[in-house]
Amino acid sequence: MTKTPAAIRDIEHTLHGFVELNAHRENGSTVITGGKGVWVFDEKGTPYLEGAAGMWCASLGFGEQALMDAANEQFAKLPYYHSVAFKTTHPAIDLAERLATRVPIKNAKVNFCLSGSEANDFLVKIVRFYNNAIGRPRKKKIIARVNGYHGATLMATSLTGITANHAGFDLPLPGVLHVSDPKAFSNALSGETEADFAARLCGELEEKILQEGPDTVAAFIAEPVTGAGGVVIPPAGYYEGVQQILKRYDVLFLADEVITGFCRTGKYWGSTSMGMTPNTMTLAKGLTSAYQPLAAIVLSDEIYRGLELGSANLGWFGHGTTYAGHPVGCAVALKVMELIEERGIEAHVARVAQTFSKRLDVLRDLPFVGDVRSIGLMGAVEFVVDKKTKTPFNPKGSFAKALKERAEQKYHLICRTLAGGDSCAFSPPLIITEEEINEMFDRFTKALADVAAGYMH
Ligand SMILES: Cc1ncc(COP(=O)(O)O)c(C=O)c1O
Repeated sequence: MTKTPAAIRDIEHTLHGFVELNAHRENGSTVITGGKGVWVFDEKGTPYLEGAAGMWCASLGFGEQALMDAANEQFAKLPYYHSVAFKTTHPAIDLAERLATRVPIKNAKVNFCLSGSEANDFLVKIVRFYNNAIGRPRKKKIIARVNGYHGATLMATSLTGITANHAGFDLPLPGVLHVSDPKAFSNALSGETEADFAARLCGELEEKILQEGPDTVAAFIAEPVTGAGGVVIPPAGYYEGVQQILKRYDVLFLADEVITGFCRTGKYWGSTSMGMTPNTMTLAKGLTSAYQPLAAIVLSDEIYRGLELGSANLGWFGHGTTYAGHPVGCAVALKVMELIEERGIEAHVARVAQTFSKRLDVLRDLPFVGDVRSIGLMGAVEFVVDKKTKTPFNPKGSFAKALKERAEQKYHLICRTLAGGDSCAFSPPLIITEEEINEMFDRFTKALADVAAGYMH
């Protein structure tokens, strides 16, 4: 790939994340200059079909005038004010109210911040404050899952169950534990039924809580459907069992809805798709369709009342940030929620998801395809050298990496690779049409044939 002058300046002055730094110095980044609908354009004007919606986030597509207008109107009215220290703004109030009436948590309270990482990090602080306030100072450990992804701060990376993200950063922090990834393709035993697999995973969770001591375990955090760690849809009965165990030991259930919120799974919330009744939810990405950085922590009334008690004991609730409830972000999020209703996005996703899953399913028969998984408009294809033995490519992940590059460079399709397997993932903008879904998979299938041909002997 020839580097453009802008890409060269970028290499000189920017530290990029989630890259091999030496490869980045060599190859640089593609500079994206514009976008419309499900398409983005590079500096030469080449259109790419954005099969990943950026980072699973530009859910209403690029160039959505109604969102830009909402931001501009708010910029003109009040470009900034905070929502801490006895001040707030109308957009922050309106959004909190709208979210509280939409989430599957009764009498919810909403706290705003800027990113999914911050939301999960702050939530762990909130859980600590809550348990201290209600007289359970030992109940602090958090159980997360292998291959879960929860963000990039010290705590959010610790919750993340991807060892490559811990490496070199002295993580995870103490007090964070991980249980197995509920991915049947990798972890179900041969001959094990879905129900048996779910029961075994639940047994492992219960054992972990008992081993650690239930009085020391504060919460279990999970993405309803794991995103970056593999698009993992847990086996039927899993969350039902998990929730029984959490109730038994008075452990909070924290749903990380950063990817799954706002219709990605074909229902408004991933929690609803998966039959979950969490105590908290963290939201970002689709909240503003990524047009502004904004995230939200949604808390049950019971947790909120605990925080009020703690605040009364300590003199205040010592937490907040400068940009909390930024009015421009909140105005955009309100418009996103309005557009989701007006345009029937939830029903649209449920409908086009049928084409999406059909096109994924036919890949199953192709060489090196070990597994395909999808729900709503999030899907993954996982590759193995040998379908019977599930032997991975060496190095692991190399097939998907080559495929992602081929798809992008030759067929101008952007998809992404995933941790926790040799996988390519799709999470296109939710406004994608059936025709565009077909176009996406036509391009992907051609790239797959090219890369597979290179591995045939
Ligand atoms: C499920 C999940 N949680 C949290 C995060 C972190 O969000 P952010 O990148 O906005 O910090 C991500 C990001 O991809 C995510 O997928």
